[in-house]
Parts: sequence; C-alpha cells; structure tokens
Amino acid sequence: MASDSILVRGVPEDVRAWIEEECGRQRVTQREFLLSLITHAAKPEEGPTLFDSMAANAAQAGNGNLPFSFIDLFAGIGGLRLGLEAVGGRCLFSSEWDEHCQRTYKAWFGEVPHGDLTKIEPTDIPNHDVLAAGFPCQPFSIAGVSKKNALGRPHGFEDVTQGNLFFILATIIQIKRPPVIMLENVKNLQSHDGGKTWAVIQSTLENLEYKIFSKVMNAAAWVPQHRERIFIIGFDRHVFGDSPPFEFPKEPAGPAPKFRDILEPAADPKYTLSDHLWKYLQDYAQRHKEKGNGFGFGLVNMDGISRTLSARYYKDGSEILIPQKGKNPRRLTPSEARRLMGFPDKPIVVSDTQAYRQFGNAVVPRVVEAVARQVVQVLDWHLTTNLKGCLLKAPKNGNGKGRTRKAAAGGVTRV
Ligand SMILES: C[S@@+](CC[C@H](N)C(=O)[O-])C[C@H]1O[C@@H](n2cnc3c(N)ncnc32)[C@H](O)[C@@H]1O
Repeated sequence: MASDSILVRGVPEDVRAWIEEECGRQRVTQREFLLSLITHAAKPEEGPTLFDSMAANAAQAGNGNLPFSFIDLFAGIGGLRLGLEAVGGRCLFSSEWDEHCQRTYKAWFGEVPHGDLTKIEPTDIPNHDVLAAGFPCQPFSIAGVSKKNALGRPHGFEDVTQGNLFFILATIIQIKRPPVIMLENVKNLQSHDGGKTWAVIQSTLENLEYKIFSKVMNAAAWVPQHRERIFIIGFDRHVFGDSPPFEFPKEPAGPAPKFRDILEPAADPKYTLSDHLWKYLQDYAQRHKEKGNGFGFGLVNMDGISRTLSARYYKDGSEILIPQKGKNPRRLTPSEARRLMGFPDKPIVVSDTQAYRQFGNAVVPRVVEAVARQVVQVLDWHLTTNLKGCLLKAPKNGNGKGRTRKAAAGGVTRV
C-alpha cells in the first residue's frame, strides 16, 4: 500500500494541509480519505470520469483489492485472518484465549491475541469494517425472552444469556455496528438443538438489522478434504440497504485437488500405527460393521479426498489413515495436516497434539478467501457504484457512536 506521504505528493500546499487536517479530524488514513473523496466526486450519470479511473487505480493498489479493516474473534490460528488478508483486509484486533493457539498466532502474525472475549469490553475493540468470528457452537436457553426485548436492553444480551458466546458476539455487533459480519461454524449449526440454535442466531442478526446470507460450503473444491462448514455473512442494512448484491463463490474451475498432493515424500516412521493400535482399529471397525454402523476408520484414496480432519485426530488418527505398502497405515504428519487444511508453510511451534487440534478446529483459509472476495465485490459496489460513500471506519477505539466516513461525508448517520 502506498504510504500516506506519497498519496498527497505534488498537490498544492493548501490542499495538502486540508487533507492532513481532514484525516486527523476523521481519524482515517490519507488513502482512506482520498478513496472516500474520489467516490463522492464521481458522477455516473455523466459517464466515466477521471475520478472513476482514479478510484479503480486506488482500489488496485496494494493487493489489487479495496482496503478494509477487520477483527478476528475466536481466532484459533487465524484461518479467517489469512483469507481476509489475502483480499486486502487489515486486522485491527484479535481474541483467542487458548495459550497454544496464541503461540501459533504470535509466530504467524507477530501478535498475541487478546484473551477471553467475555472479559473484553466491546468499547475497547477498535472500529472495523468486517467482524470475523469462528465462534464455538453452544445451545441457547432463552425461553420466554423475546430477542427484541433483549436487543432493547442497554447492555445487550449478557443478562439473558449468561456466558453464551454467540450473544457475546451479538453484543459486540450491537455496540460496534460493523458494516459486515463474517461468521463461520460447523455444518450442523443449522440442525443443532433441533434447529433452535440456528433460529436464534438468524433472528438475532436480523433483529440487529443485518441482511443475512448463509451457505454450507465444502472445502473439497479447494483442498483434498471433505470439510463442510457454514458461512454466515451479514451486511448492515443501514449501510448497504436491503439487497446487497452478495453471492457465495462458485467452486474453482479445474481438476479437484488430490490427497496425494499434500503428502511429504518421507514421513517420520513414528507416524506409522503400531501393530496394537492398527489391530484395535480394525477390530473396532469389524464390530461396528456387524452392527451395521459402517467403518470406524478411514483409509484414504490417494487420488481422491480425505474425510474431515477433526480436533481429536491426535487421539488415534483413525479418520484419515494413509495406506503404506508392506506396512501398517500411518497418520498425517502435522505439516501434512497443515497442507490438508490449505494453510501456508508457516512454522509449527506447538506439539504434535496441539498442532492436530489447531488444524482440526480451523477453517480452510482458501474458502474464506473465496467468500471474502465476494464480500469485497459488495464493498466495491457500495464504494464505486452505489455512491453512498466509503464505509471504512476510523480505526480508533470507541463506543460505536463515532462517525463513519460515510456519515462524515454526508451519508446516513449511524448511532
Ligand atoms: C472453532 S475455533 C476457531 C478456529 C479458527 N476459525 C481458525 O481458523 O483457527 C474456536 C476458538 O474459540 C476459542 N475460544 C473459545 N472461547 C473463547 C473465549 N471466551 N475467548 C476467546 N477465545 C475463545 C477456542 O479456544 C477456539 O480456538
């Protein structure tokens, strides 16, 4: 990204001083300010203008994407972060309480995430454009409590929903009003607790006045693994209106990735199953087969895809076993697990057990990237076509009542 001083070089001194003053006042970078200015100056009814091409050029600087900011909650090892950064996102805040995940996150992103999200005041979280969270799934017990009533309460949901992590998120959303939310969860979120969990999540976000899109996506088109996760994307109706043109991505064209592509040429023999464990797994599978329950372990087809890597893979590795000629099958090595999830070759700084756990809990960054690219198209539409103003918010701490650039530029003022 071009530095601020480069952006305003070559303009008259008084213009430069005005830009600096406005940036200070609105607490935005010069790049963000200029993008907003350009957008408001463009007049589509008069055909393409100089400003249109400037906006396009500005958008193409850096990663070739619009710059936007995001926060990474229930961050794990940053699967959402990697996907969002790949399309131009800038992370302003992260929260993850597990010390092993924090160690990986520090090694990969250079920062230790903040700890327990339930102990963080929403007002201490910087303003951001996209709230990203892979929140743990918990049952809800809100019998007899209307969500609308809950929303109307000054302090959000905490009194009705003791400790429920989704409501921690909802409270942050209510207070910070991020223009976009990106949530990720296990596939069975929709069927969890007889569908009640999903009903509460959807209605809560809708009552917060977000237009919600959701889809279960299988990562198998991006990595050689069957891995279904639900993505929930929300757009603030006050910013984008009722019909933001969002669509989930299509699967990438071309041949599907094959499991053999993620394998190391020579895995350490310690990953080969002992005779004892291999016999146990076969006996267990036999018993279940007799009861009509199917197989208990998964021997991978090297030219196909694997089953889903789970957080319990460290226990026996039974869901993904790699056949070996003349030997017992073996487990994935941690580096192979990392590649099976499509994470870049960043160092593994925790034990094997923790590494399997972390990858088994994570989201596939390439799927996030594909979804985030579609989100960016909506930001782009809003910025360059909708002409309601730039939605990037000032990256300062605040109570969510601060002006957005849109508000500053005369658009809808949000509270
Ligand atoms: C499903 S995982 C998210 C994985 C992440 N999307 C990734 O790609 O690595 C949920 C994470 O939430 C974390 N977590 C649970 N409760 C938390 C809390 N109260 N505060 C912060 N993190 C929490 C867990 O430690 C876990 O790593």
